[in-house]
Amino acid sequence: MRLLITGGSGFFGSRIGEAYQGICPGHDEMDIIDRESVEEAFEKIKPDIVVHCAAASDVGWCGRNPEESWKMNVEGTENIARACGKRGVKLISCSSDQVYFGNGQKEAHKETEELFPANEYGRQKLEAERRSFLYCKDSIILRLSWMYDTEKRMEKEHGNFMLAFMEAVKEGKAMSYPVHDYRGITDVRLAVDNLEKVFELPAGIYNYGSENNYSSYETVYRLLEKSGLQHGQLSKNEEAFAADPRNIRMDMGKLREHGIEFPDTLNRLAEVFIQSFFL
Ligand SMILES: NC(=O)c1ccc[n+]([C@@H]2O[C@H](COP(=O)([O-])OP(=O)(O)OC[C@H]3O[C@@H](n4cnc5c(N)ncnc54)[C@H](OP(=O)(O)O)[C@@H]3O)[C@@H](O)[C@H]2O)c1
Repeated sequence: MRLLITGGSGFFGSRIGEAYQGICPGHDEMDIIDRESVEEAFEKIKPDIVVHCAAASDVGWCGRNPEESWKMNVEGTENIARACGKRGVKLISCSSDQVYFGNGQKEAHKETEELFPANEYGRQKLEAERRSFLYCKDSIILRLSWMYDTEKRMEKEHGNFMLAFMEAVKEGKAMSYPVHDYRGITDVRLAVDNLEKVFELPAGIYNYGSENNYSSYETVYRLLEKSGLQHGQLSKNEEAFAADPRNIRMDMGKLREHGIEFPDTLNRLAEVFIQSFFL
């Protein structure tokens, strides 16, 4: 099986590349915005499966740079889907829980809901999903939650929840987390391990990650408690999302039906933190 990973120098793609010995052309070897460059790379690599991780993944940056990020997230995904579709290559495309922000649903989100993303990044990811299916009907779309690891692989790698938490605990820094924010947070190593089963999934959209019923503030409060630490450095951020509470937590029922399981957010966070911080 020849596995091609786009965005192989990024947070998720680099870990997938290493775990599955995938082929990871650099940005300069395959620019996803440039259709010809994508076609040339596909002709050379002749992949059987593509995991598409290349993207503009910073939500704030996408909002500030809507045109540039649209090219990367939407047109880039279209180019990859066209290349896969015409060759019968299986496409696994990374989407995001942010597509759910804004549809007013208070429960954990399911894949079948109608969506009205409230930010530019969410809108781009939803349109990228649509174009994946339009040009490659065998696409598997993974709606990923916020992912973390205990280590940074490369200097330029973006930060993550666990690294920020570990640093705050170590240095006794103040931490403030929103009370009006509900989302899953997932150990990237499990997301990578479970991909083996994703390769066998039928085409479709799947929520992919750990479930979480607690707000971000409650999650951190309970994480400190489970780890035997005091709450003194933690405060509530009551302002963020106060006007429009954010619920992007996802229901993993469909994924479970297909035999793929993640532990819940809090238990896994506590396990990973205790193992890497104290032991
Ligand atoms: N990390 C998370 O918590 C998270 C959560 C939900 C969804 N996701 C989604 O999961 C996917 C992977 O996220 P990530 O965190 O691994 O992203 P990331 O660390 O920001 O990596 C993005 C990758 O895309 C590459 N890239 C950017 N523009 C490109 C272009 N024009 N042509 C080719 N490559 C290009 C970058 O290469 P250069 O650095 O060389 O430009 C980098 O390797 C994305 O679709 C993201 O939206 C991530």
